[in-house]
Amino acid sequence: MNDPNGMVFHNGIYHLFFQYYPESTVWGPMHWGHATSSDLVHWQEQPIALYPDSLGYIFSGSAVVDNSNTSGFGKDGKVPLVAIFTHHDPVGEKEKRIDYENQSIAYSLDNGKTWVKYAGNPVLKNPGINDFRDPKVMWYEPQKKWVMTLATKDHITFYSSPDLKNWSKESEFGKEIGAHGGVWECPDLFSLDDQGKKVWVLIVNLNPGGPNKGSATQYFLGDFDGKTFTASHTDIRWIDYGPDDYAGITWSNTGDRKIFLGWMSNWMYANVVPTKAWRSATTFPRELKLVHSGKDVWVASIPVKEISSIQQKNVVIQNMEFTNTVDLSKRIGENKLPCRLDIHFDDTRDFALVIANDAGEEVLVGYDQKQNQYFIDRSKSGKADFHKEFAARHVAPRISDKSRMSITLLIDVSSVELFADDGLTVMTSVFFPNKPYHKLLLHSTGNARINKLEYSGLKSIW
Ligand code: FRU
Repeated sequence: MNDPNGMVFHNGIYHLFFQYYPESTVWGPMHWGHATSSDLVHWQEQPIALYPDSLGYIFSGSAVVDNSNTSGFGKDGKVPLVAIFTHHDPVGEKEKRIDYENQSIAYSLDNGKTWVKYAGNPVLKNPGINDFRDPKVMWYEPQKKWVMTLATKDHITFYSSPDLKNWSKESEFGKEIGAHGGVWECPDLFSLDDQGKKVWVLIVNLNPGGPNKGSATQYFLGDFDGKTFTASHTDIRWIDYGPDDYAGITWSNTGDRKIFLGWMSNWMYANVVPTKAWRSATTFPRELKLVHSGKDVWVASIPVKEISSIQQKNVVIQNMEFTNTVDLSKRIGENKLPCRLDIHFDDTRDFALVIANDAGEEVLVGYDQKQNQYFIDRSKSGKADFHKEFAARHVAPRISDKSRMSITLLIDVSSVELFADDGLTVMTSVFFPNKPYHKLLLHSTGNARINKLEYSGLKSIW
């Protein structure tokens, strides 16, 4: 799999479609795979939702609940789910034509189980831009219209429609702002509450050109008036600074709550990671919020609260001072994956959590006070020879200016997700150890003080 697609909440079910090529573990003719969940934690895979056809592969896109049947697809009072996606024509691409990506729609009247493609596809034809894809559609209530946010090479183009079938161009954003180390892909536009004020968030995925090389997700804060998005800052910001969170967007139809999830890989090596049965996974779902820090407002992400349903009894360690290295296994027992770790420090001093096995392989997650940076170091994490950039130490700025520091970690057999300072700095990284990481150690070069450490095993979701 790669990108999450068509994320929509409907009738108590979270739908997660995804870029999928069922015939192989390397990228190929894209379908929309489908999975469902009632709690964002336990997932069930469903039959493939959309297959490639004469218009091309089914590339990334979104889905909406068309409550007032603006599309006319509804029947007998059944509310249609409408998917809006890119048709990518591999023949046109091979012939080096410029217009091989167009936007199409499909609808479902049985809660996403089966889909009918619209006979009038494509609904938005390519105007002559070869990267013209990944439509994210939302309902804009003040003007009672649908708004499509589309990645158009090196900028975003906004379109609007009364019925999801007829689209008109509204405006463009981003040619001269933000990170441009690669092509813009998979955007998202939504608002978040900032102390009673509405702030618009524009997510733009970028490949390559991420802060730690390869694929990554930047965001802009600003205002949207139904036509134009205006950014309120010029600095470059990332939803996740790690190497392995890409193509992330949010669920639609979740009210004020905004839930984000990304693909846990990077196009630098996605097709060659040393896995067999599966390749690859998504991040854990994350709730997005606006948080004030310093003079600014930032997007923070934290694991959705539903994670508590799989959290086992906590082991709590309080007021621990340590120098050099402490073996946490002595206090918490053998590390069993997946697990969650929450550590609250009294101040901001150097530390590294060492996630290790007895084959000498390890991943370090920590904080470097001199640089004021968090880091994840997977240089000695196990299998890494499949790509020259894989064995590396990745860094992220500490955005919080609080004197106390805290981290939450979700550690699985092949990944770690770091949420520092209540999600102000986030990093995701994957790794491929030759033996399971059964050990957890804490390391400090000076002496460090932990106010509270909580460890809990996570029950399997399968
Ligand atoms: C991002 C992306 C999208 C595209 C899809 C194809 O990872 O390149 O832009 O729609 O993947 O699988």
